[in-house]
Amino acid sequence: MIKRVQSWLGREERQQPVDISPDNIPRHVAIIMDGNGRWAKRLGLPRIVGHQNGMKAVKRAAIAADELGIEYLTMYAFSTENWKRPKEEVDFLMRLPEEFLAIELDELIEKNVRVRVMGDSEALPSYTRKAMDEAVLRTQHNTGLILNFALNYGGRKEIEDCMRSLGKDIAAGHLAPEQITAELIDSRLLSGGLPDPDLLIRTSGEMRLSNFMLWQLAYSELWFTDIYWPEFGKEHLLQAVAEYQRRTRRYGGLK
Ligand code: IPE
Ligand code: IPE
Ligand code: MG
Repeated sequence: MIKRVQSWLGREERQQPVDISPDNIPRHVAIIMDGNGRWAKRLGLPRIVGHQNGMKAVKRAAIAADELGIEYLTMYAFSTENWKRPKEEVDFLMRLPEEFLAIELDELIEKNVRVRVMGDSEALPSYTRKAMDEAVLRTQHNTGLILNFALNYGGRKEIEDCMRSLGKDIAAGHLAPEQITAELIDSRLLSGGLPDPDLLIRTSGEMRLSNFMLWQLAYSELWFTDIYWPEFGKEHLLQAVAEYQRRTRRYGGLK
């Protein structure tokens, strides 16, 4: 009996239309794609199978975001801390951009998606950099969704590099300390040119930032879900955006 009620409830839930207003779509959504390894483990498969399926979820999320009218989608693909993982896993992750290019990019090009990358590209293997450069180049004239990959990205490293570059400008006499403003810092970060994320999504039940966009997320709305990244689909993005639309953003002021 309980089982029947649960399955009926589940079906009802799936049938519920998600109420989304076209007037309040987040411009920039950032996603910490987490749980690939646990998803695979649950199925008794090697972790890399999780990463493989995670790549498919990236394409689904990008298409769904574009359909919703989201302008920027930033995906945390590899952190500056992920080098600590076993070599085989890192090697596999570094090969994924080539696969993404070969398998997923054409469909995204058809959807007018433009690829962008942020992170320390110099530390990447040449084949990874080449694949990302090619994705950026092949989509450079597209005018739809900006799909921004954070690859070998770390929020603290980004701030460290920004401070070093400002310090150099001051030492060289090109900049006065008084000229350092939030806008100048914004423009010197790896996300320069993108608005701050309105909504941050993290999958897999973890509730931390893991060194992601520490400056830019200052006033973003946060949404966490227990589902693992390879399971992520349009319905989850819709749920997140619907929840976003129920929030009141006050930025320290009053409603
Ligand atoms: C996210 O999934 C992908 C990357 C961090 C590269 P994980 O690989 O972190 O999967 P879990 O968290 O171990 O399940
Ligand atoms: C964050 O996930 C990095 C990416 C999603 C690329 P991790 O799985 O590396 O984060 P921690 O180690 O659980 O904080
Ligand atoms: Mg993880």
